[in-house]
Amino acid sequence: MSSNALHVPVMLQRCLDMLAPALARPGAVVVDCTLGLGGHSEALLREFPQVRLIALDRDPAALRLAGERLAPYGDRATLVHAVYDELPEVLDRLGVPRVQGVLFDLGVSSMQLDEAERGFAYAQDAPLDMRMDQTTGVSAAEVLNTYPPGELVRILRAYGEEKFAKKIVDAVVRERAKEPFTNSARLVELIREALPQAAKRTGGNPAKRTFQALRIEVNGELAVLERAIPAAVGALAVGGRIAVLSYHSLEDRLVKQVFAAGARHTAPPGLPVIPEPYQPRLKLLTRGAELPTEEEIAENRRAAPARFRGAERIREEVTP
Ligand SMILES: C[S@@+](CC[C@H](N)C(=O)[O-])C[C@H]1O[C@@H](n2cnc3c(N)ncnc32)[C@H](O)[C@@H]1O
Repeated sequence: MSSNALHVPVMLQRCLDMLAPALARPGAVVVDCTLGLGGHSEALLREFPQVRLIALDRDPAALRLAGERLAPYGDRATLVHAVYDELPEVLDRLGVPRVQGVLFDLGVSSMQLDEAERGFAYAQDAPLDMRMDQTTGVSAAEVLNTYPPGELVRILRAYGEEKFAKKIVDAVVRERAKEPFTNSARLVELIREALPQAAKRTGGNPAKRTFQALRIEVNGELAVLERAIPAAVGALAVGGRIAVLSYHSLEDRLVKQVFAAGARHTAPPGLPVIPEPYQPRLKLLTRGAELPTEEEIAENRRAAPARFRGAERIREEVTP
């Protein structure tokens, strides 16, 4: 199957429309922080023929596949193996002080989900890995087998919003004492048994929330995102735009908070006029989070949980 067929870029036209005004000028640079299979990146290169693309991914397999796809664009595309909170260092190395556009399409790629041996999918039995970059870090099995119970409960609650975290972790701790976890099927089975009957009747596969939580922990996703969004805003030139697609409420909340903070003035209360150094540096381009249309969801199920936010850099950082 071609990499094209594997992934339909989510809310693609909306992303292009949002970034368009910022990318119109000659010499504009756009950063795709989550290259994946290069769907959004390719569309950016195609739609904006003057634009230079810098694209990051922490997954070497994604860089390989997207590299083939984007080869026809030659040196207009620079692909970098990096975690996206390393954006400032990457731009520094490339000698690019400011950029006009940044895109984040968060989460795992369909390629990562489809390749059973990566261990992201709960629907197939596979090694419990879940690292987006398999060259570094600890696997989901190691998390499950070695973390203290209290820490596992916290992770399942915070990152999976799992109401039955305690029940699941009790069962995990009992089972791992007999034999360490290696594969996903055993964990899925255990979750199924640990959950009360009523909980199993609603909300799809009962393992979904635990798998999301483990994935977020294994890849440090929220901590990285918390650093990356302010770093990306900091890299934008005035007039530059940032667009973010999130796939669960924890990601979206974080993006919302960073954008909202940038769109507020920072003056002490009570000033009749807000002096320039305290004026907001961002203008919000979306009211709340925008959702994909029913038609898009019907064509591409991966789009269903997407929430889209955008903002424009309207001012330099001025220290009062
Ligand atoms: C949803 S996919 C992107 C799909 C892409 N927009 C497309 O159209 O093909 C997300 C990608 O971001 C990468 N990724 C996730 N977190 C990352 C991080 N912290 N740093 C760099 N890449 C990351 C994943 O490896 C994955 O390939």
